[in-house]
Amino acid sequence: MALIEFLNHIPIVSLIALILCTTTSTARIFTTKNCDFPAIFNFGASNADTGGLAAAFRAPPWPYGQTYFHRSTGRYSDGRIILDFIAQNFGLPYLSPYLNSLGSNFTHGASFATFGSTIRIPNSVMPYGRFSPFSLSIQFIQFRDFILKTKIIRDQGGVLATLIPKEDYFSKALYTFDIGQNDLTSGFFGNATIQEVIVTIPDIVNKFIGIIKNIYYLGARSFWIHNTGPIGCLSLILANFPSTIKDSYGCAKEYNEVSQYFNSKLKEALNQLRKDLPLATIIYVDIYSAKYSLFQNPKKYGFEFPHVTCCGYGGKYNYDDHALCGQTININGTKKVVGSCKNPSTRVIWDGTHYTEAANKIIFDQISSGVLTDPPISLNLVCHKKFT
Ligand SMILES: *[C@@H]1O[C@H](CO)[C@@H](O)[C@H](O)[C@H]1NC(C)=O
Ligand SMILES: *[C@@H]1O[C@H](CO)[C@@H](O)[C@H](O)[C@H]1NC(C)=O
Ligand SMILES: *[C@@H]1O[C@H](CO)[C@@H](O)[C@H](O)[C@H]1NC(C)=O
Repeated sequence: MALIEFLNHIPIVSLIALILCTTTSTARIFTTKNCDFPAIFNFGASNADTGGLAAAFRAPPWPYGQTYFHRSTGRYSDGRIILDFIAQNFGLPYLSPYLNSLGSNFTHGASFATFGSTIRIPNSVMPYGRFSPFSLSIQFIQFRDFILKTKIIRDQGGVLATLIPKEDYFSKALYTFDIGQNDLTSGFFGNATIQEVIVTIPDIVNKFIGIIKNIYYLGARSFWIHNTGPIGCLSLILANFPSTIKDSYGCAKEYNEVSQYFNSKLKEALNQLRKDLPLATIIYVDIYSAKYSLFQNPKKYGFEFPHVTCCGYGGKYNYDDHALCGQTININGTKKVVGSCKNPSTRVIWDGTHYTEAANKIIFDQISSGVLTDPPISLNLVCHKKFT
């Protein structure tokens, strides 16, 4: 009887086999040691800037930084950015910007990212133009210099040698990237059509890959590469292109499709790069989906009015290019500083373009778990080549 019943339930047997298999492989992963990257080297734009542009020009005004650091550190948020949560995850200090000459300690890495950075060399740069002069190729040159100069300092010894990474950290470090959005917005705000922006994407991605290769040739091995976020969900786009068609979550459909196209090209190119650089671990991180989930399901994460800027002024999205967060504006003869919403932790968008600390934390939780990466691997295991 028992045997007949057993035979009648063959599918259950396969199910049990499956469970056993899964349990075994899970057990194997659990017994693998979490990575302890000794350093992080970071490249990117404002979403990854820990004060680079602020060191070169000036910091964004208060209330930037109000939530966590209680001063403006040059981060484009009310508090920590995703990179801060990555550093914290590995027990590392927050990264000093390479450009910051005062009080920086580069023992555990450096950040080359600046607000307004592009992958391609921009034709309009600050202070008169829109973009950062520190595009990705310049960030690469700075990094190459950083390696050379730290070698000289290490050989000299003394107090300066306590401020730089050990020699072997360069090959053992995690290399993080978050850049590309400005290459796309430079088109939108330069009057290019959506189609004209799309045709530039293969070249933008090629240039990105070229720089990653150059960093690899300097000894980098572990790469954590963010794709680009849903641009069309930002108040920056929604307020500037009010007639654009929205998707069911209120985001500008065509603009998001441009991000998606960039992301598909990047993913494809990184697949090829994995073949070209077999010694590297290359992780494609789907930050787009993590960010988009906050607009799809704001309540689930404790957010309200996901498209409405927290620190801004004017219109449906509380955003106006001429009344940015922290700026002093003139309303009918009365001066007013554009300030923060009451509770930034319930908002997704901080200043129209960048996310609040609360949103950044949830994005970090999603991308570090392994469900949004290719190959699928949790951030803590990225150093183990065998899983990738
Ligand atoms: C820089 O940071 C490292 C690691 O946290 C520390 O050991 C070193 O003493 C620091 N250097 C200075 C001059 O504070
Ligand atoms: C885009 O077009 C507007 C209106 O024609 C013009 O004022 C602006 O200068 C143009 N911007 C660029 C970057 O060409
Ligand atoms: C500014 O003044 C105009 C004209 O009196 C009025 O219509 C408008 O509502 C005022 N705007 C604000 C923000 O108070």
